[in-house]
Amino acid sequence: MNHLPRMNCGIPAKRIRGYQAMAERPPPWSFFCIRTYASSSIMDLARIFQVDFHHRVRFTQDAFAPDNETLASVCSDGQHRRMIAFIDAGVHKAHPDVGERLANYLGSRAKIGDQVPELKMIEVVSGGEEAKNSNDVCEQVMAATDRYGIDRKSFVLAIGGGAMLDAVGLGATLAHRGVRLIRMPTTTLAMDDAAMGVKNGINKFGKKNFCGAFSVPWAVIADAQFLTTLTDQQFLSGFSEAIKIGCLKDPSLFKLIEQSAAKIVARDLATAMPIIQRSAQLHLDHITQGDDAFELKEARPLDFGHWAAHKLESMSSYAIAHGDAVAIGIALDCEYAVRTKMLSQSDSTRIIACLRSLRLPTWHPLLSQTDQLLRGLEEFREHLGGRMNITLLRSIGESTEVHQIDSGIVAASVKALAP
Ligand SMILES: NC(=O)c1ccc[n+]([C@@H]2O[C@H](COP(=O)([O-])OP(=O)(O)OC[C@H]3O[C@@H](n4cnc5c(N)ncnc54)[C@H](O)[C@@H]3O)[C@@H](O)[C@H]2O)c1
Ligand SMILES: [Zn+2]
Repeated sequence: MNHLPRMNCGIPAKRIRGYQAMAERPPPWSFFCIRTYASSSIMDLARIFQVDFHHRVRFTQDAFAPDNETLASVCSDGQHRRMIAFIDAGVHKAHPDVGERLANYLGSRAKIGDQVPELKMIEVVSGGEEAKNSNDVCEQVMAATDRYGIDRKSFVLAIGGGAMLDAVGLGATLAHRGVRLIRMPTTTLAMDDAAMGVKNGINKFGKKNFCGAFSVPWAVIADAQFLTTLTDQQFLSGFSEAIKIGCLKDPSLFKLIEQSAAKIVARDLATAMPIIQRSAQLHLDHITQGDDAFELKEARPLDFGHWAAHKLESMSSYAIAHGDAVAIGIALDCEYAVRTKMLSQSDSTRIIACLRSLRLPTWHPLLSQTDQLLRGLEEFREHLGGRMNITLLRSIGESTEVHQIDSGIVAASVKALAP
């Protein structure tokens, strides 16, 4: 509102302060007019308005079994709609029948009277970070949206890992300024974090998520069966985000992960799924109830451990998986917080031990390129806008924001993590 003094022709300062207070006040203020001018063509208007979003998240088993109502229930609204589906190449390789099962599912639901959309196309697209490292997947989605007459009330179904969901999500957001996106996450990380997000993106200019948009999916349907075909590395990688959210918001989740590590490593889904679901719920709650879904404010707690993670990913040309990079970033920021007397040594030791017990990395040789790594801080700041804001822990379950990072202490923290 720093333009207000410029406009102060004739309006008492007291009144302007009043308008300012209204503008800063959260809804229910839905309308106010700063001022109008009686005798010129100048007009300044401002409105505060609210839009309600519905973020539907369902965890299920065997989503394409004919008697499973989950998918049908989120896309049957009594109208004749269309659907196009995209399958992550990695998912397709491990589940070659997934497209056929989807088609059969929709066919059988239609036979019993569900108003499911008409499936117009199924396309296999690149999976993993490759999906985000070019425009291709995003363009494929827009081209198919055009070719098959997908309108804003029709559906794009994306079945895949977090990277492919991000790339398809961007295409679905750009086409017609947004068609309905249903995400079916197929990795641990996509289920416990990425699919809950209200953003998408692709990498550009060597920078992670440089292009993207905020966009709320129509629905998220997570089917635990997909997790069975991940490699151990892919399966465990996603737990770094669950550890992250436990450290930030829920010490009991963190403790549960600590205690369950051996079973998680043994791929015991009965143990792993409640942890994945709790993490998903905490991410969803933060996004939908944290009063900053579109990241307009300064603090970005969900990005704890991410400044270094994003830089390591790009420094490695995306050879380091996001979940692994987050584990390293968390370890680094814990060591840093200990050295700045913010976090106790015992809490940091617990967190790093927990990461390692899940076979997550806490070191990578690229960390030694500290100068380059530190450039990640400025890139992170640019991505968020405003002043630098890094989330650090005070204890397990309590975080704080800092606005400066000491490069010497980062270097010492890197040294402490080295094998
Ligand atoms: N939009 C958000 O809010 C958000 C949040 C967190 C992370 N992300 C993004 O998510 C991405 C990481 O996602 P990820 O950890 O899911 O990895 P990923 O999407 O890179 O997938 C890893 C690999 O697993 C394969 N795969 C996926 N599902 C499979 C299955 N069921 N069986 C066999 N193979 C399978 C993929 O083809 C890929 O090769 C990063 O790009 C990150 O930036 C986005
Ligand atoms: Zn992440």
